[in-house]
Amino acid sequence: QQLQAAELERTFIAIKPDGVQRGLIAEIISRFEKKGFKLVAIKIMIPSKDFAQKHYHDLKERPFFNGLCDFLSSGPVVAMVWEGEGVIKYGRKLIGATDPQKSEPGTIRGDLAVGVGRNIIHGSDGSETAKDEIALWFTPRELVSYTSNAEKWIY
Ligand code: PPS
Repeated sequence: QQLQAAELERTFIAIKPDGVQRGLIAEIISRFEKKGFKLVAIKIMIPSKDFAQKHYHDLKERPFFNGLCDFLSSGPVVAMVWEGEGVIKYGRKLIGATDPQKSEPGTIRGDLAVGVGRNIIHGSDGSETAKDEIALWFTPRELVSYTSNAEKWIY
């Protein structure tokens, strides 16, 4: 039976400045889209340092916090919300381990990145963070609810 859109989970995914500069936007979107997840919000923006600090607030005690925030605010970021059954956990699987030296081939970081400070993509790590990050990056009106033609074949 087809799930209603409202029952499906959502996650926040960002293509970081290195991914944008390297021309990987379409490649990354394509992996989520081909899997069967649905894009419900997207925009490109250069986050301010203050905004980056809000996004990474959980990491403020970490030694790399300042560098990570500088990096996120150094250029355009593609911010997205993806929807689908299990998208938070499986999205992280598509992305691969934080350190691209440890991420498996076949994952986004495993195939496309080399260093931990330049790992091209961010994905929410749980349902609470997903909610918080979606609310930080998007207004409710920017989230589009729709039924795609593919859904009845996916679910
Ligand atoms: S940790 O250590 O468990 O908190 O790490 P993790 O949750 O995997 O990573 C949190 C975010 O910090 C980034 N990160 C780093 N950036 C720069 N240098 C180093 N050494 C480093 N270690 C972790 C990591 O990429 C995560 O950011 P996002 O944007 O979520 O990928």
